[in-house]
Amino acid sequence: MSFAFNFEDPNSECSVEGSLRVENAHKKDQESLSDHGSQTKRKPTVEMKEFYGEEIVKKLTLKSLEFGDCMLRIVDTSCLEQMVLNDKELQKLLDTSHVLQAVCSHSDLVSGSYEGGLKIWECAFDLTEFLSTKLQGLSLGIKDKSVLELGCGAGLPALFCLKSGAKQVHFQDYNEEVLKLLTCVNVRLSTENTDLEERCRYFAGDWSSFSDLSDREKLKYDIILTAETIYNEENYSKLHALFDAVLKENGFILLAAKSYYFGVGGSIEGFLEYVGSMGMFSSETVHTVAKGVPRYILLLKRMEKNHQEEVPASGPEDNQTDSSVTTSSNIT
Ligand SMILES: C[S@@+](CC[C@H](N)C(=O)[O-])C[C@H]1O[C@@H](n2cnc3c(N)ncnc32)[C@H](O)[C@@H]1O
Repeated sequence: MSFAFNFEDPNSECSVEGSLRVENAHKKDQESLSDHGSQTKRKPTVEMKEFYGEEIVKKLTLKSLEFGDCMLRIVDTSCLEQMVLNDKELQKLLDTSHVLQAVCSHSDLVSGSYEGGLKIWECAFDLTEFLSTKLQGLSLGIKDKSVLELGCGAGLPALFCLKSGAKQVHFQDYNEEVLKLLTCVNVRLSTENTDLEERCRYFAGDWSSFSDLSDREKLKYDIILTAETIYNEENYSKLHALFDAVLKENGFILLAAKSYYFGVGGSIEGFLEYVGSMGMFSSETVHTVAKGVPRYILLLKRMEKNHQEEVPASGPEDNQTDSSVTTSSNIT
């Protein structure tokens, strides 16, 4: 199964030609999974307590990125997967078997095993840039807010929030090795031993199992961020259920994604259809990048109870062409 991302952004560290090959870890046990379709495995959520950075950082190439006044010092992900393939010491430090499975099969992700978090995808840059330049224009703020980034990978958007005064920032990814090798390291590098790091927690596992943990711990967030996470339409229900489970009443969600993901089936339109059918969140397209495969940022908010089931979620208009904040009339 393959789909093309058509990366054109010079900032993108992703496979620029954009042919993203996807292996399905469930191929072999299709029968036992017949009741789950190709959904990502319901991997239990574990909290990462230990920081592996010191041993790992010295092996990595680092770089800096600026978003307005905010400087992020991060791991250069361009060779990270190759490093996992070649570095035997690293393989002893971490369980890299899932990433290796993808690299060895020349895939960008292996569904249900490694979900692509060791690269920084285009929409993560879009979302971080958006937070830095356009959020205030919508009268939305970050300061003193609790933030969760779902499917965070390198975690740039949440890291930006951490450095912009968020009181609590939680990073969540399917793969523990991504959090250890990349996310935690980015936080440590970017916070330079300040107490900011103490505001962070890291959770690995499937979205469906995060709801169990958040229920137990009564975790609720003002802001949920997520980029490039709707490529697999089989996962829409668990992502949506998690939004509902952990978003505060007056909170908001920013979801950045491409309009469609070749060969996999996920798309903005499909996701919005799902959101509309559930009748719980309103949606607004707040940013559009029209070049190549169009990319969008959606703002989702809870519908007032008496509006639920009346107002469908709606998405980008076909004729939007530039990068701008939109208040299009078809947007609820
Ligand atoms: C294409 S990567 C995008 C990473 C990052 N957000 C970015 O844009 O650079 C998709 C991310 O979503 C996470 N993900 C995918 N399916 C998931 C699931 N069912 N539960 C938890 N995380 C998932 C993966 O671990 C991966 O980091």
